[in-house]
Amino acid sequence: MCEPRYFDVRYTINPWMSGDVPVDPARALAQWQGLVETYRSLGHTVETIEPLPGLPDMVFAANGAVVVDGRVLGSRFHAVERRPETPAFEAWFKAAGFDVREPEFVCEGEGDLVPAGRVLLAGTGFRTVPAAHQEAQEYLGIPVVSLHLTDPYFYHLDTALFVLDDGRETNEANVAYYPEAFSPGSREALERLYPEAVIATREDALAFGLNSVSDGKNVVVPHGATDLTARLTERGYQPVPVDVSEFHKAGGSVKCCTQEVRTV
Ligand code: ARG
Repeated sequence: MCEPRYFDVRYTINPWMSGDVPVDPARALAQWQGLVETYRSLGHTVETIEPLPGLPDMVFAANGAVVVDGRVLGSRFHAVERRPETPAFEAWFKAAGFDVREPEFVCEGEGDLVPAGRVLLAGTGFRTVPAAHQEAQEYLGIPVVSLHLTDPYFYHLDTALFVLDDGRETNEANVAYYPEAFSPGSREALERLYPEAVIATREDALAFGLNSVSDGKNVVVPHGATDLTARLTERGYQPVPVDVSEFHKAGGSVKCCTQEVRTV
């Protein structure tokens, strides 16, 4: 995770960033610290990367890479403003002892590449390009399922879908998603893959409910996604609501702030 020391909204690269409500830096920091504490209280290890001045979106560490079984595919950002983040994330992984593959095509890490047990769900339409999906499959050696995003408010796959359970124990992964964020064909593909999925409403999705992080049991979920939270409880999950609303002004929430380092 990356402390929001330089977090701000200074350019517009998604519809959430066009609002003129200024960011409250103290509130952003307190909310981010609350998220770190939440993970630690659930027993997870949190490591941090040093934020860099002039990179207001670097707090969204999910976009820096995707890690599958200890293999790191780095990032190549669509927006020129975010491109200098790539070498910083790469340096962090190298210092931590990982090899990093630099993608040749636009590829925004876990924003669009979502490991779901036996497959990698891969979003395209706004940021990550289909050629990067192929690159991810070749480098990570995991079958890729390409999904088309069609609503600019849900510009990254991780704003429209999250993995509830990667199937490590049950051998069957499950997800929660907002169907209308996807093209008709991608929606059908998701229905076939995940007949038991938790379906979210537009309100939940707009409250960043699909930008949650699940460990298979606890689901750290943005606090405004109330219907989704109720559905998760019904399904036997333990929702852990957190308020990270300052980050919504930049189009990110819980998951965007969280890079999951999946080692073997
Ligand atoms: N302002 C950032 C951008 O548009 C937000 C990134 C959110 N991250 C995510 N994983 N969806 O690139």
